[in-house]
Amino acid sequence: MSTTEDYLPPDQTSLFEPLRSDLRESYSRRDGLRFGRIFSEISARLSALKTAPTGNVLLQTMRAWGSQGIPKMVLSRILDECYQRCVGPHVAQLTGATESEAYGELTLPILYEMFIAARLTSDCLFMDLGCGVGTATAQASLQTGCRSYGIEKRSAAFEIAKTLQAELKIRCKMWGLKPGDMTLELGDMLFSTQLKQLVRQADVILVNNYVFLPELSQAVCRILSTGLKDGARVITLSPLGFSVHSQASRSQVDRFPENIPFCITKHICPPGSFSWSATDGWYYLHEFTDSHRGESDDFLRRQRLPSHMMARYL
Ligand SMILES: C[S@@+](CC[C@H](N)C(=O)[O-])C[C@H]1O[C@@H](n2cnc3c(N)ncnc32)[C@H](O)[C@@H]1O
Repeated sequence: MSTTEDYLPPDQTSLFEPLRSDLRESYSRRDGLRFGRIFSEISARLSALKTAPTGNVLLQTMRAWGSQGIPKMVLSRILDECYQRCVGPHVAQLTGATESEAYGELTLPILYEMFIAARLTSDCLFMDLGCGVGTATAQASLQTGCRSYGIEKRSAAFEIAKTLQAELKIRCKMWGLKPGDMTLELGDMLFSTQLKQLVRQADVILVNNYVFLPELSQAVCRILSTGLKDGARVITLSPLGFSVHSQASRSQVDRFPENIPFCITKHICPPGSFSWSATDGWYYLHEFTDSHRGESDDFLRRQRLPSHMMARYL
């Protein structure tokens, strides 16, 4: 119910406050009858707000969000509802894969920060390469209203992503919101014609490459270095072209801004950013600069990798 603070005008929030504590109390006392009565009362009051003589108060509140966009609490509520219905019951289907296809998710708070840092806005195209169950594409389109595209190789994850997307559309309608257009593709990011076309228009691309094998990481790096438009931003968990399997030397990775066609900044991910770990970590924001186009292959060759890694890179 804390969503009411964002979704209702301030004078109404205080009117709902006593009902909110009554609802909690009846829940903790397991008083089903009272809980039902209070719930009906809340529903009736919300319906009355929608048909108020001055117009739909809920819609008016949303319009007042204006350029600030959807409040984080409302965003979180809607995405949580979708996740619980569409992903939660099927999580077991996602386990078992290894290496590049191992499943893990970035959580809502870190995606929220990443989208702000990458300047994702409603006129952008956002792409998620290896979109899993589609949480990042859904959040991007809801948080900013941007167009989003996600590609996923594993059919189990892709099917869940489709249901999540359908659920988001339904929930947005209930809340009176309109997310940006969302497209999902089942396929391999290295061989998708649609992806290659869209990459040219993309403003922000997410590649959660944390466990990608070096071959996949480098192939993605090549696709992006040749296809991106000037100023496009790429968010990764390992610097582009690297993966945990290849990060034998962290200091090398931290030196590489001089050598590739991207300006790179390194950002902290606080604990709670990843579904697979409770600790903190990093993400990398690359900004593509056209003047350095074509340098990525050179960069990959020039890295002084430990000898046991060399063969994989050349
Ligand atoms: C760690 S998950 C990331 C999910 C989501 N992007 C996120 O960050 O929350 C990586 C996903 O990439 C997918 N993947 C790996 N290789 C791929 C490929 N060649 N083409 C498309 N998807 C791939 C995996 O199946 C997996 O679902």
